[in-house]
Amino acid sequence: MVGSVEIEVIPSELNGKHEQLPEEIDPESVLIVNENGGNENGGNGNKGMVLGRNIHTSCLAVTEPDVDDEVTGDREAHMASVLARYRKSLLERTKHHLGYPYNLDFDYGALGQLQHFSINNLGDPFIESNYGVHSRQFEVGVLDWFARLWELEKDEYWGYITNCGTEGNLHGILVGREVYPDGILYASRESHYSVFKAARMYRMECVKVDTLVSGEIDCIDFKSKLQLNKDKPAIINVNIGTTVKGAVDDLDLVIKTLEETGFHDRFYIHCDGALFGLMMPFVKRAPKVSFKKPIGSVSVSGHKFVGCPMPCGVQITRLEHINALSRNVEYLASRDATIMGSRNGHAPIFLWYTLNRKGYKGFQKEVQKCLRNAHYLKDRLQAEGIGAMLNELSSTVVFERPQDEEFVRRWQLACQGNIAHVVVMPNITIEKLDDFLEELVEKRSTWFQDGKTQKPCIAADVGTEFCVCALHK
Ligand SMILES: Cc1ncc(COP(=O)(O)O)c(C=O)c1O
Repeated sequence: MVGSVEIEVIPSELNGKHEQLPEEIDPESVLIVNENGGNENGGNGNKGMVLGRNIHTSCLAVTEPDVDDEVTGDREAHMASVLARYRKSLLERTKHHLGYPYNLDFDYGALGQLQHFSINNLGDPFIESNYGVHSRQFEVGVLDWFARLWELEKDEYWGYITNCGTEGNLHGILVGREVYPDGILYASRESHYSVFKAARMYRMECVKVDTLVSGEIDCIDFKSKLQLNKDKPAIINVNIGTTVKGAVDDLDLVIKTLEETGFHDRFYIHCDGALFGLMMPFVKRAPKVSFKKPIGSVSVSGHKFVGCPMPCGVQITRLEHINALSRNVEYLASRDATIMGSRNGHAPIFLWYTLNRKGYKGFQKEVQKCLRNAHYLKDRLQAEGIGAMLNELSSTVVFERPQDEEFVRRWQLACQGNIAHVVVMPNITIEKLDDFLEELVEKRSTWFQDGKTQKPCIAADVGTEFCVCALHK
């Protein structure tokens, strides 16, 4: 212990020996707990989660500097070598990344010069605080761009650059709750977990709505659930691309359902567009997300389709709603209407930089490329006899969960039950997909040889027509 800071010291490791860089969690060391509390290590199936364990399989310990300058030189060299090896592992991990919707293709070299500044946009983007090292001018430029994209006039919107899509959801649902304090939150079962977290955080009544096999909200079920709660306003989370299947909820049908059920002006819609919020506007046949429709807010993640070295996001809502949520803060000389206090002032500059470089046309091209490549992947998987599905407006290809966890980790695939997905982002080329397919097909040829392991059935997840298990092929 040093002062009140607890530090794990591993002295031998500074004397020439290098500690191992953490690679990934060793699956054998992780306790998997199923929903009933029993252990469930190994196998594929429906795994539970790691609960209540602080597992230190690997860590880079923080050690106290030595008073001796000579040793300090060694320390610097050691730290440089740790960082160099870490960088190498990042390069390798970046090459084999298919499962998360992050565009890893960007070059922000020109912004390196800003790294020495502690840029913080605390407070309201539109009300300058006393803290001068900020980037509000970039932030507001980016917000204007998004407000234009989603068709809300400059003097009618309010928004801010968030830390991530989750913060956008937390904010959007909070605005809805402030507008309708006794409102019930409705969200489809396939909504992101942050939506249900918001309900828990704000102690809101939350109704889960069924989904169609595509992953879209089932508006027949929605209607019947609305009818049971006609006395309370409705706050709805509409998915502009679900996490696992990339399904887009039918916003127009959601609005129609609300109106038909008598909710006319007693609803608030938050659109969770974490990934597709920025892709949909560039897909010709896609339904429009627009503030010309009766929606209250839209959020998107900045590090997903745009691509950014740090997580970030954008939240846009109607100016008329924000007063309900705001408080003046004398100490800041600004207004508090955000979820967080301090806010990353670098993120808006990164977003501003990419929006300026690519513009609407650049994004449109990238969206088209992603959709084309996603179709290519889906077609090739199906041609190899692998169950696969791709929603119409999506670049998320869903397929049978690979039977080899090492393969899943190597390609960083996100899996749920019997399915896995690849999210085709701008950095994912046909060559990369070919490498992946080649490896998958080769590995797969051994998985079912023993006759005991069966091809997973994915009919319940994606529909029988996309499943090739023994029963459905
Ligand atoms: C539909 C959806 N909403 C929200 C989020 C949360 O975004 P973030 O990871 O930026 O917090 C995700 C993340 O994948 C998502 O898929």
